[in-house]
Amino acid sequence: MKTILITGANRGLGYEFTRQYLESGNMVIATCRNPEKASALQALHTNYKDTLSILQLEVTSEEAITGTVDKAAQRSDTIDILINNAGVGHWDPLEGTTFDLMTDSYRINAVAPLLITRAFLPLLKKAERPLAAFITSLLGSIARREEMGMDSGSFCYNASKAALNMIGAMLALQLKEDGIIVLLQSPGWASTDMGGKEAANTPREVVTGMIEIFQNATLHDSGKFLQWTGEELPW
Ligand SMILES: NC(=O)c1ccc[n+]([C@@H]2O[C@H](COP(=O)([O-])OP(=O)(O)OC[C@H]3O[C@@H](n4cnc5c(N)ncnc54)[C@H](OP(=O)(O)O)[C@@H]3O)[C@@H](O)[C@H]2O)c1
Repeated sequence: MKTILITGANRGLGYEFTRQYLESGNMVIATCRNPEKASALQALHTNYKDTLSILQLEVTSEEAITGTVDKAAQRSDTIDILINNAGVGHWDPLEGTTFDLMTDSYRINAVAPLLITRAFLPLLKKAERPLAAFITSLLGSIARREEMGMDSGSFCYNASKAALNMIGAMLALQLKEDGIIVLLQSPGWASTDMGGKEAANTPREVVTGMIEIFQNATLHDSGKFLQWTGEELPW
């Protein structure tokens, strides 16, 4: 049994990661901003009382991050897999882009995953094969920008995910000697609140693909930018 900690676990891909990891017999620490309003997670808890913990975490609060590490340590000696999943999409065009929207995007999508991973290092280092996953996006690929075009994504979102990619790539270098595998993981385009109903794949499909990647990854893969199918993506 592994212990997996997931941010933004109340809906979308975070919820689906929680559901699938519980179903396969693992311990999950599911974090979200408002546990009392997280009805889907609470419903899951009735079936998985012993293996699901729901903790409050607003990812941009350093105080909340520290508190979550302490509470997680009371539930498990190790974190085997940390999934930095919480994210925000501000899709405003150039004209609507503001300091506040850009800053919010960077705080949630790029800076929070860095500081959360740093805070969980002591628990990750105790795991046999620790892995830190960063749920990024193909929209963060500078190499693919012409193919993606200006109709998908936004300055806020794409730039914050490109920043996340660099943060993950640097962490992969820094954490290699600790044996921590770092993956920049794209979920493709999945039908969540963010992805919309017309998305190409279901959360179930893409999460199954990503879990398989996490299961098979080795230190050799650390620092890779991967599609949910396993294809390596260009930066
Ligand atoms: N769906 C796609 O097609 C797609 C494609 C590429 C990348 N992604 C990435 O995949 C990840 C999950 O996306 P999704 O599609 O599941 O999106 P979603 O359905 O919109 O869910 C976003 C999750 O992030 C949480 N969150 C946002 N800001 C937060 C904060 N400040 N503190 C704590 N939690 C916060 C939300 O919590 P609340 O409910 O409290 O708002 C929610 O649980 C994101 O990083 C996203 O960028 C998704």
